[in-house]
This record gives sequence, structure tokens and C-alpha cells, in this order.
Amino acid sequence: MDVLTVLLADHNVVLRLLRSLERAPREVEQARADLVTSLVITESGHEAVEEQYFWPLVRKMVPDGDVLADHAIEQEKTGKYLLRRLEDGPVGSPEFEEALATFVPAAREHINFEQTRVWPLLRQFCSTEQLEVVGEKMAAARKLAPTRPHPKTPAHPVVQKAGGMAVAALDRVRDLVTARRNRQPSGPWIRDRG
Ligand SMILES: [Fe+2]
Ligand SMILES: [Fe+2]
Repeated sequence: MDVLTVLLADHNVVLRLLRSLERAPREVEQARADLVTSLVITESGHEAVEEQYFWPLVRKMVPDGDVLADHAIEQEKTGKYLLRRLEDGPVGSPEFEEALATFVPAAREHINFEQTRVWPLLRQFCSTEQLEVVGEKMAAARKLAPTRPHPKTPAHPVVQKAGGMAVAALDRVRDLVTARRNRQPSGPWIRDRG
């Protein structure tokens, strides 16, 4: 599976969750909490593997890749602080609603930046084989990635691969204890597609 296929699958999940969160009435607190949990888990794993594999590839292969990567990693860092505020809840509190209202457009802008500004350049400057090789590594790492935001962990790929993955293991222990990943969002406002 190539790099962009792995990343696109996550982007589509995130976009569906954002739309569902916009559609869910405020009264359905548990459903909104479950949507946020799914969003936090998906985003945390996704940005972690981007920092480990995707941005280093962009920096290496794309002219001015550093400028693009630095900009995107700043967006991701801001996003992680907002995700932490969402995770802290409680749903419906002014802090939660303010963080959500900030996060939704920022997440869309970030995805749009990656897909329209960065992906075409990566396709242009990487071979099909290179995208496949890195994509396979990324898909494997994605299965073990963190499930919670860690905004204070540096985005550097070496730190992410070592410290980040140790933190990811702890995330998974905490998830097991709390059964956090067993909660699947449900409700008529859930968007299955598009
Ligand atoms: Fe990203
Ligand atoms: Fe992304």
C-alpha cells in the first residue's frame, strides 16, 4: 500500500467524524463523547506516523520540503493541544465547545493543505516504488501508534519512533483498562460515507 493510500484512509475517517460531530445534537452527550474519542484515537495515530515517516520523506524528496513540513507540523502541534482539551471534556462545557469549534475548521484546513499542497509534490518527486516501501512501513507503524495526543513529545522522527512508541504502548494499556477503544459512535447523524 503506498504512503498516500494509508494517509487518505485516515483523512476520510476524520472528515466523516467531523461531519458527524457537526450534525449530532448537543443533547446527545454520550454520542458526542464517543465521536470525540474516535476522533482523538484516529488523529493521534495518524499524525504520529506522519511525523515518523511522511514528513521525513517530504523533507528529503521535495524541494522546499522543509518549509512545507515545518508549517504542517505547527498545525499538528496546535491540533494536539486542542485534541487534549477535547479529550479532557466534559462534553458541553464552554472549554470543550470552544476547543471543538476551533478544531473542526483547523483540521479541515490541515487535511486540505496536505492533500492539495504536499501530496502532488510528493507524487511528482518520489518513485512509485519509494511510495510503496515507505507506505508499508507506515501501515505497520500505524497499527502500534499512540491513541492519545502527546503535544509535548517533539515531532522529530527519531524521538517519535523511540519515545513516541513507548508512550503508545502505555496508551494501549490505558485503553485496555478503560475499554476506551470499545466505544463505537452510533446515532442517526453518523456519516458512513462522504
Ligand atoms: Fe498531518
Ligand atoms: Fe494527514
